[in-house]
Order: sequence, then structure tokens, then C-alpha cells
Amino acid sequence: AFMQELRGVSYLEEQIRNQFQLQHVIVVPGDSDELSWGKQEMGKACVRYLNDILSTDDTIAVTGGGTIAEVANMMSPLEKAENCLFVPARGGLGENVENQANNICAKMAQKANGDYRLLYVPDPLSEEAYQTIIEEPAVKEVLQLIKSANVIIHGIGDAITMAKRRKTPADVMKKIEEGKAVGEAYGYYFNEEGKIVHKVRTVGIQLEDIQQANCVIAVAGGKSKAQAVASYFKQAQCHVLITDEGAAKELIKGS
Ligand code: BG6
Repeated sequence: AFMQELRGVSYLEEQIRNQFQLQHVIVVPGDSDELSWGKQEMGKACVRYLNDILSTDDTIAVTGGGTIAEVANMMSPLEKAENCLFVPARGGLGENVENQANNICAKMAQKANGDYRLLYVPDPLSEEAYQTIIEEPAVKEVLQLIKSANVIIHGIGDAITMAKRRKTPADVMKKIEEGKAVGEAYGYYFNEEGKIVHKVRTVGIQLEDIQQANCVIAVAGGKSKAQAVASYFKQAQCHVLITDEGAAKELIKGS
């Protein structure tokens, strides 16, 4: 039965890789909607993958969220990559502190024996504040590092779950609901066809930056996130997906 499980997982990996035209897919056993250690397994898989691909002096941008927090928890000193720099992909996203990109970034860097820079900019921002803030030298400098990141590690969330978690104002909530958003990643909300329904105005990683990075790693699992993951891939160019069986089985159903 164990061998069958293993074969099952590699079959899922191959299917998903083809379906979404990805370079690499890792499916860990289980469904993190149900298992308390599901996110940890994805975190471990991500750390293993990073150990393979990172080189000395790489810059890695990371988002927040409970899944990426587990990547940080599982991080260990990078064997082949010295002097790596970790930066948060975005400012805050109105999340509690454990879920914030800054916090996760600092923790990941410390455990990897790397360096880090932080970005203190609220999320969302008014248009006026945005224009002023992006001209601040300290912000500008970190933004440049973020935009030059070779590796981006990010979570994907269910749209409504994320909108609620961020205490989204009623008018924006309405826009997200009426637009039938199903997925969310770094402040963008996508509908089933991958169309952008809403975008939180802030500094940090934008969709255009994702198209330019040479390794974009999405880490998201649980059956409940399958639709969100699929919607994101319709819009964004990502290279690697680290997920679990719960999401993976659901993802290939749609193919
Ligand atoms: C956020 C990312 O912080 O984490 C989002 O910026 C993502 O893109 C979210 O949707 C996922 O959170 P979690 O807790 O489900 O891993």
C-alpha cells in the first residue's frame, strides 16, 4: 500500500506539471485541510527544494501566510548557498503578526544563516500615501531588492477566506464577491478564469515582477484551495508548485 501511495503521488505531480505547464511539482501526502502537520510537510519539501536550487548571493522574496510561515519553521542552514538575502514580498497585509511577511522573512533568514531586509509599509495604502512612500529612500532601496529577487516564494489563498482575514471593507468585499473571486495571491484576487477582480494597492511584488523572476515557487495545499490554485495559474506565470494530495487530486479533476 505504501508503494502505491508513492506511485500515486508521482502520478499526481506529473499530471499537474503538464496541466499547468510548470517546471516542477511536489505533492506531499495528505490533505492539510484535515491534518495539523500538512503545512509542515509542504514547508519541509520547500526547504529541501530551496537547498537544491539556491546559490550564493541569491535574493529570495517571501510572502506571509500560515503556509509560508511553516517554510520558515522548517528552514535550516543553507548548505550550498552563502550570503543569501531574504526580503518580504510585500508590506503588511492586515494580518496578525505570525502571518506577516516581515516576520516570516526575518525568521527564515535567521534559520538559513542568511541576511534580511524588512519593509514597513501598511497594506492597503491610499493613492496619496502610495505616491509619497515609494519615493522614500529606505523604502525605495528595499523595493529594488524585492524587484530583483531571483526566487519568489508565495502562498495562495481562497479569495473569501483571505478577504475576511484581512478585514476587507464592505465595499471592496462586495466587489470581490460580485466578481466571483475564488483565489488570492499577494493581494490580487482572481476569478475562475484567472481574471483580476481586485488588487490591494500596496508596494512590493506585483504580477509583472512575477513574470520576470527566474524561479517563482507557490506553496499551497488542502482540498479547499484547489480552485484558488487553478485560478492563479490561469493568470500568473509560476514555475514550481508545492502542494499536497488533497489539493492535487482536486486539481486534476478539473483537467
Ligand atoms: C498570504 C499571501 O500572506 O498568504 C497570500 O500573501 C496567500 O498570497 C496567503 O493567499 C495564504 O495564507 P495561508 O495562511 O493559507 O498560507
